[in-house]
Formats: sequence, C-alpha cells, structure tokens
Amino acid sequence: MVGEAVWNDQGQIEAAQGAVQDIDKHKAVQKEIESSREEWQLLAESVPMIVWTTNSLGRMSYVNQFAAGYMGSNARQLIQEGWWQYVHPDDKPNAKAIWKAALMTVQPFLAEFRVLCHDGTWRWHLARAVRVDASQGAQWYGTAMDIQDFKEAQETGSQLANRLVETMESVADAIFVLNHHWIFTYMNRQCETVLERKREELLSRCVWDEFPQARGSKFQLEYERCVKEHATVRFDAEYAPLKKHFEVSAYPHQGGVIVYFRDVTTQKRLTEQLQQAQRIDALGKLTGGVAHDFNNLLTVILGNAEILAEQFGASTQEQALTQMISSAAQRGAEMTQRLLTFARRQSLEPQVLELNTLVKEMTPLLRRSLGQQIWVETIYCDGLWPTLVDPGQLEMALLNLAINARDAMPSGGRLLIETSNTVLDEDYAAQHMDLQAGPYVMLAVSDTGQGISKENLARVFEPFFTTKEQGKGTGLGLPTVYGFVKQSRGHVAIYSEINQGTTVKIYLPRCLENDRYTPASAMHEVHHDGQGRLVLLVEDDAQVRQISRRQLETLGYAVIEAENSRQALHQLVCQPDIALLFTDVVMPGGMSGSELAHQARTLRPDLPVLFASGYTGHAMVHHGGLGAGALLLPKPYLRSQLAEKLVQAFKSAATSDLDSSLS
Ligand SMILES: Nc1ncnc2c1ncn2[C@@H]1O[C@H](COP(=O)(O)OP(=O)(O)O)[C@@H](O)[C@H]1O
Ligand SMILES: [Mg+2]
Repeated sequence: MVGEAVWNDQGQIEAAQGAVQDIDKHKAVQKEIESSREEWQLLAESVPMIVWTTNSLGRMSYVNQFAAGYMGSNARQLIQEGWWQYVHPDDKPNAKAIWKAALMTVQPFLAEFRVLCHDGTWRWHLARAVRVDASQGAQWYGTAMDIQDFKEAQETGSQLANRLVETMESVADAIFVLNHHWIFTYMNRQCETVLERKREELLSRCVWDEFPQARGSKFQLEYERCVKEHATVRFDAEYAPLKKHFEVSAYPHQGGVIVYFRDVTTQKRLTEQLQQAQRIDALGKLTGGVAHDFNNLLTVILGNAEILAEQFGASTQEQALTQMISSAAQRGAEMTQRLLTFARRQSLEPQVLELNTLVKEMTPLLRRSLGQQIWVETIYCDGLWPTLVDPGQLEMALLNLAINARDAMPSGGRLLIETSNTVLDEDYAAQHMDLQAGPYVMLAVSDTGQGISKENLARVFEPFFTTKEQGKGTGLGLPTVYGFVKQSRGHVAIYSEINQGTTVKIYLPRCLENDRYTPASAMHEVHHDGQGRLVLLVEDDAQVRQISRRQLETLGYAVIEAENSRQALHQLVCQPDIALLFTDVVMPGGMSGSELAHQARTLRPDLPVLFASGYTGHAMVHHGGLGAGALLLPKPYLRSQLAEKLVQAFKSAATSDLDSSLS
C-alpha cells in the first residue's frame, strides 16, 4: 500500500488517501534490505575509522559518528557539505584525480591524503572505496584510516636504514652479510676493495663458491661456529689466493652472520719487520756484551801466551804449544771483532770517500780471490756523490758480499758491482726501521747464483745463521755488513730469486762539503699526470703490487692488476683500453715478464711496456732475457723514478718497435 495522511487545520489526521496493491513480497525484500542496512550501519558506527557512502555524483548519503568527532563537525553537516574541505589542499588534486579515475573505470578508489583533525593538525589517511550497484543506483562505500603514526614510524625506519647504509658504506672496515645458506645478501664498498671483487659478481652468490679456497679453512670453521653457538667470533687468518691477512669479527644474527674484517697484511708485515729488527737488535746487544768481555779474556790469553813463548826459548815443544794458543786466540779476536761490528759497537773511522775509487782499487783483488770461474764486472756511475764512511770496513763488506756471491755460484757465474746515486723517499723510509729519507750513494753487488729462499731471506742478517756446511760458513758475513752499514747511518736491502740470483744493495748517506741536503720529497717533486690512463700492473708479490698500485694511482693512472702472465694476457684481451703494460720480470707460473711482453705485443703491437725487477738494471739486461732497448725500472723504486720511466715508455712505444729490443 502506498498512501499518505490528510491533515486538517488543527494538525490532526483527518483521512488517509492512497492505493492498495499486493506488495507482500516486495515488503519482505524491503525489510530485509533495511535490516541489513541497519546491521551495516551498526558495524560502521563501531569501527575507529571514517566510514562514508556516496553516490557516483559525489553526494554523501552517510558518514559515521567517528568521522564527525574526528573532524569536529556533525554527521548531518558532513553529509550536506561533503568532507573534501577537510582534505589538505596540497593533496586534493591528486585525490580527486584518483576518484575520477575510479568512477570511470569502476575500479576501487585508493588514495592517501591528509585530513584536518578537530585539534587543527593534519594527519595522513589511507582512503578506500568500492562501488556497489543497487536498485536505486550505484553507491560507493568508503573508509579512511588514520595512518599518521604508521607513516612516521616508516619514515623514521627508512631514515634509520639510510643512515645505517651510509655509515656501513663509509667505514674503513669491510662488511658483508651472509644468510643461512651462506649467500651474500649485503656487502659494503670497502669489501670490494679488500676482496678485489665487484658487488654485482658476489651478491646472491654462495661465499664458498666464490671463494673456494675458504672452504674447510679457518674462515668456514669460524663462521659455522658463530652460527651454531650463536656467539661472536674473532680471529685472524690468511686468505692465500689474495695473499692477504685478515682480522675478522663475525656476529650471528637471526638471518645468518654479519662479518666485519680488515686487511692487516701491511701492518702484519711491519710488525714482523719490527720484530725482526728488534730481534737483531737484542742479538746485537747480547753479542756485543759477550764480545766485549771476550776480548778482555783473549787479551789475557794472548799476553800470557807471549810471556810463555819468551820463557820457553826457541825450538822446544812448549814453544809450538804456545804458538797454537796464540793463533787460536787471534782467530777468536777476529771473530769477536765481527760480533762487535754486528753489534754496531766497533770504532769506525769514517772519511769522505769516492766509492768508485775504492771499488776500482779492490777489483783486482776480488778477481784473484774469486777464481777464474767467476766473471767480475763493474759499472760506475758518473758524478757519484761522495759519502762519509770507514773505508776499511767498506772493503770488508764488499769482500763479504763477493765471497757470498762466489759461494752461491759453485759452478761459476757472473758478479756485478755497480755504483749509483739514489734518493730514498719518505714512502720507502716509512716502510723500514731506522731509515731517513734522503740522498744516498748505492753500492750493489749482484750474482747469478742459486738465490735465497723466502724463509731464509728473513734470517740472513741474524748472526750465526748459515746454510753452509760446518767449517765453510760462520753466519757472520751479512750481520757484519748490516751492523756496519747501520752504524754508518745507511741501509741494506737484499733481493733474491731462487735459481736466478741475488742482489745486495748498500746505501750510504751522501756527504756534501757542507753536509746538508733537502728532504727527498722536496727535491724530487713529482709533477706528473697519468690522465687516468689504464695501466696493467703485473706482479706476483701482493705487497709490492699494493705499493706499486698506490704509486701509479698517485701519479694519476688507473690500474688493473694481474698476479701472473696468464691473468695479464686475459686482461689484455678483455680490456682494450689498457694503455701500458707494467710487469715484473721474474714471476712464477712458467711465463716470465719478457715472454708476457712478447705475447702482449702480438696482441697489441703498439703497447708500451715497462719492466720492473729487484735485480739491478744491468744484471737483468744480460740475464733476464731483456734486450738492450727494454725499459727496466730497478726495485726498490721511487715514485719519481716510476713517473720518469712511464714517460719514457709511452714515448718510446710511439717511436720504436719492442721486438727489436727484446732478445
Ligand atoms: N749471494 C748469496 N746468494 C745466495 N745465498 C746467500 C748469498 N749471500 C748470503 N746468502 C745466504 O745467507 C747466509 C748467511 O750469509 P753470511 O751471513 O754471509 O754467512 P755465511 O756466508 O758464513 O753463511 C748464507 O749461508 C747463505 O745461505
Ligand atoms: Mg758470508
């Protein structure tokens, strides 16, 4: 039935007019709708968020009390006015555009915007609405939820995360994170440098696949212990393929393990050097003390032997005995003299000296005493600086080195004595104990003998260290050279390659009339710009490689490294922009630096090549397979010398052909 009341003037119902229809069914449906709407509204009133309905034209039909309270209005007003006015003006255009798009596509409306709260603050909301088609037209049912707190937390979280990542990127330690499957999930920048690998290559890869030599090593054992015991572990270990020593801390976390580590190779080497120097120093003090007392005893023995000889008279048996006593005591005195030399306790008589003259005077004697099997050559530097040194001691040192060389060449060979002027720079001085940067006069003695193994090389300056059979070696030769040179404020360096030979270099301080010099760095200021040209650095010794890299980079070159010829050739194929090949001459692994240069030249005929070697230049030219025109930089070199040779290498490559200079 549809009808309406008819009212009289008094405001009372007078009659009713209308039409009657059979609407039982219709009514039942209507009732159901109403009750479900009631239910829906009840629900809408109970949730702590804005709930509204609107038609497709945007006319509001409902908002809940929560919305009214939130915006400080009432529901009726909100329905009449809509609540766009409570949306932040900056967010309105975007929200409206999304709303329009939702109307067009009939897809759910989803937008974030700020809503004005009754206390005058703007708070972020996430609004959603869906369209429901009903008989009286489409209706949109929407909610808007306050997400301000969530947003703030998210913001703080991401700021924190950003700051954390920034920090991790800038720290000096290398950091990586592994998950439970030993997969790299994070790695900082420093990590790339220390591991010599790119992040792209390592992230999402298994650590044991990428660093196979770490499998079963201390690294694996410790990381596993960290995870298993859920405890922090700290250790240091060497990773052989990189020839680096690491100090590692590993922390467990629920996703796996976080690893902090740093490369302590240089530190370790310096510590070892320091320990070695301290050991030698301690030995020096000990032997010095003993030798000093011993000399007193020997003086007594010798004096008494002399008195006895006088008392016994000639040709007695006793006379022969006293003779034996005094010659044994004399040998003892010589030995203690050497020990004192090692202990830097001998009295030196330094003179301003022309080293070339001293060597020239000594060569005939050396030739005679070394025998015919040994070919003695000398190369004198023109304009050699004078030096202040005890000539007698220097002669002894040279003799010692020559005898060592002879002993290392039992079936003959070549001995080369060279002199030159050298400036040792701050870089070099910093790496050695007790060494001042500055100009030095160098005396180098090279042989083509059996060489010295790495383990022995660390010990050759220790007194009584000898590899020679009893009676042949005393182990006092190099220690006395060392002691004397140190006492003369100089420096000794020794280079050796097994089965190739050995070079010992003695550096003695330059002595000018007024005995003053400016520091090396000021004298040899390097103005050099490599312009970022790419240098392929081939060197098997990781420490030397590291120093050379630093020098090249300081000179403005970009560097890629290879630790052997095979790797170098691979790099040459992959990297067409390599501008120069800088290679060590003697390297393990079958292919020497000169062979590498040959092969490289077949790939890149115009490629400039520079060789480096621990032997002095001339020794290498004759024995390292390099032709006379090859550019060779003797180790140790200064940055300024490297710069100079690089310039020469680029220049000569532009004009000549290497094949003619390689033999
Ligand atoms: N030129 C060299 N070539 C090879 N090995 C050398 C050379 N010089 C020194 N050595 C090694 O260093 C050791 C110590 O040398 P040194 O102090 O002169 O004592 P000694 O000659 O009495 O053995 C030698 O035993 C030898 O093993
Ligand atoms: Mg010797």
